[in-house]
Amino acid sequence: MTPTVRNLRFKIDGTLPKHWHGGRRSVTIFLDNLSVFFPAGERFFAKAVRAHQSFMKDEQLMKEVRAFCGQEGVHGREHERMNEMVRRQGYPIEAMEKRVEAILDRVSKRSPELAQLGVTCALEHFTALMGEMLLGSAGLLEGAHPAMVALWRWHAAEENEVRRHPPLRARVVRAREVPLHRAGRDVTALPALPRIFSPELPPVGHHCAALLESWRREFDEAPVYVRSAAAARTAPRELAVAS
Ligand SMILES: [Fe+2]
Ligand SMILES: [Fe+2]
Repeated sequence: MTPTVRNLRFKIDGTLPKHWHGGRRSVTIFLDNLSVFFPAGERFFAKAVRAHQSFMKDEQLMKEVRAFCGQEGVHGREHERMNEMVRRQGYPIEAMEKRVEAILDRVSKRSPELAQLGVTCALEHFTALMGEMLLGSAGLLEGAHPAMVALWRWHAAEENEVRRHPPLRARVVRAREVPLHRAGRDVTALPALPRIFSPELPPVGHHCAALLESWRREFDEAPVYVRSAAAARTAPRELAVAS
């Protein structure tokens, strides 16, 4: 099954309170900070995976990779919009984003493509685990502004949809016809990486599959998602889905 690219445009504007997490400053700032990492991070992930496209002979795998890049493209765009809102509140978002870009730029320039794929697999697994936590603990977003709840839950769900697909990471590495353990060994800074490539690394447990099911119902029924999808249809198309 190919992951679905949901082109959504959340209502992120000046009407949101500064401390949008129910007035709680600390949690709002934590999530505002986390959002800073996404636009550059998502671009890095998509680029790292696309770099291996020429080795992929399987049409289904290509489709899944395109969908993965498409999902990450929408995530990046919406977090860019969120970061712009935070910037207008007076935070030095540009400088913060530049620092993230500089780190990832260094990884892009200094590491082999396979190692960049390794970093992507590791970080994707990490974002999926954070997403599972967010989907599974309703209290984490309790009291937050509905547009922010919808954005964070959508991102959390899609990170886990990709993880759920029979390890995309391992199949992309196999397309390079290198042993999985070698792909992991290329990233010397992350000695545990061979495990990340392993098909045995649990993709998604029953618990998370149930969480995704319930989020999909929420997605079909909640007005905030219906409005976000409609807004994306009327907004200028700025989404670049990799082909
Ligand atoms: Fe993402
Ligand atoms: Fe991701």
